[in-house]
Amino acid sequence: MSQPQTEAYATVADQRPSTSDELALGPLQISEIILHTRSFDSMKAWYVDFFGGLKPAVDVAPNRGLKSIPDVTRLCFLRIHTNYPITQVLGLFEIPELGDRHPAGSGLNHMQFREQSLQHLFRRYEVLKSAGITPFKAYNHGPSTSFYYSDPDGNEVELNATNFSKEEDYLAFFQSDEYRKNVEGYQVDAESYMHEKRTSGAA
Ligand SMILES: [Fe+2]
Repeated sequence: MSQPQTEAYATVADQRPSTSDELALGPLQISEIILHTRSFDSMKAWYVDFFGGLKPAVDVAPNRGLKSIPDVTRLCFLRIHTNYPITQVLGLFEIPELGDRHPAGSGLNHMQFREQSLQHLFRRYEVLKSAGITPFKAYNHGPSTSFYYSDPDGNEVELNATNFSKEEDYLAFFQSDEYRKNVEGYQVDAESYMHEKRTSGAA
């Protein structure tokens, strides 16, 4: 009897519809994330640093008055990635009257941004550390590695890279016993983990 397949993650092949609509429409891509904040200046400064000095593509002056979103006093859009017409944008909307974040409330849990490789992830760690931005936890998830940061409002921002350069190896890991037994992987100390991976030639 075959082993039950884990349903925690589907493979790429599982995720794509096989209907004719696929040809007509193709997959959607995430292109915008908007965060509300009452700490606009510190949030903007943090994300500018986080994205390597990326200046906002749109930065609307205070109290200009936006008819469609009257509660918003300022906004900015950071264009993180473009492959026109697809773009990926993180936006901040300032709403001075916001209440405190409620950890038990529904809503966004975290955002993940992926690096090209472990080498890039580790280099990013060093660049961010020199800007005073350090992760509050790090995980080797098995298929990938993640460093978790907290923005000034307490939103969780994950930086991630796969542990496998080939997609087939990455997808195969999701079907492995190792993965079935432990879908979250294990927490690591970022710096000793980076040292270990670099020393072994894995990064
Ligand atoms: Fe995540």
